[in-house]
Amino acid sequence: MSVLMQAEDLRRYYQVGGGLFVPRAVVKAVDGVSFTLRTGETLAVVGESGCGKSTLARMVTLMELPSSGELFIEGEATSQQNEAERRRLRLNVQMVFQNPYGSLNPRKTVGAILEEPLALNHRGNRAERVATARAMMDRVGLRQDQYGRYPHMFSGGQRQRIAIARALMLNPRVVVADEPVSALDVSIQAQVLNLMMDLQDEFKLAYLFISHDLSVVRHIAREVLVLYCGRPVEHGTKAGIFENPLHPYTRALLAATPSVDPLHSKHTAAVKGELPSPLNPPAGCAFASRCPHATDRCTAERPEWREVEGRLVACHFAGSV
Ligand SMILES: Nc1ncnc2c1ncn2[C@@H]1O[C@H](COP(=O)(O)OP(=O)(O)OP(=O)(O)O)[C@@H](O)[C@H]1O
Ligand SMILES: [Mg+2]
Repeated sequence: MSVLMQAEDLRRYYQVGGGLFVPRAVVKAVDGVSFTLRTGETLAVVGESGCGKSTLARMVTLMELPSSGELFIEGEATSQQNEAERRRLRLNVQMVFQNPYGSLNPRKTVGAILEEPLALNHRGNRAERVATARAMMDRVGLRQDQYGRYPHMFSGGQRQRIAIARALMLNPRVVVADEPVSALDVSIQAQVLNLMMDLQDEFKLAYLFISHDLSVVRHIAREVLVLYCGRPVEHGTKAGIFENPLHPYTRALLAATPSVDPLHSKHTAAVKGELPSPLNPPAGCAFASRCPHATDRCTAERPEWREVEGRLVACHFAGSV
């Protein structure tokens, strides 16, 4: 399977503050993320709110440049590219957002929303664009007679089908989905996930699937990358992560996910303890303040990213506790 996307040590730092009473500081929103995404694969990126998931999504869809690191799309290094080259590659990497209410223009009909990417990129004539849009509506489970309707006339799940259809109009190779089902009722989540899996087979898509919810990821992922405070803490196959999590943070996330079936998952308390402030991250392991196994070494020394039992993990004691 061909490599569609490769991230090498991606980092995104933001300067914040610098006002009259607010000292200047740096937020390390994403701090050293690497992965490889191949045709037909799904890599899930999980972690709590604020851990850098959406920042990563913006970088891999070329909406935002990394502070350092390199992103390869279909083998092309993107950091030195000009705007025209980036625009061309961006067509291959489309995005589905969390909020199906805010991401669709309320003044446009479904048909116009779906035709727009084709028109903007000069694909086909008007009749061909209409035909392509109608065929895509079919494919995502919307009725063609809904072509002239506006987004507010649809349910949340149907709107997310529209957003997915729009993302597929230009035949991308990669779809980055940032919490695509989090805003939906749990009864609807499984339907949208099943649709995404069908479309993945049909269009040979690779997904970067972002979620704070491991029960959703279990449905769809092949590999899982766990982020904590912008840093990767564990990366492995779905089976490895779910059956034998090595990092204490992955274990805590799993423990806070009582059921792996999105239809029956009740949202329980998240991981105990507070996230460290992104403005003042600890010197050692970022998870040390919440970790049941933490020692002085964890507070003092940042754990290296290393291979343990066939996967990558950043914990001094992974494999031994
Ligand atoms: N443009 C920005 N300027 C300053 N800080 C930012 C900016 N964008 C994100 N951040 C900070 O970077 C960190 C990561 O944010 P991000 O939105 O990527 O997290 P997330 O994992 O997507 O969270 P959520 O689950 O709530 O969507 C947060 O501390 C956030 O406040
Ligand atoms: Mg986010």
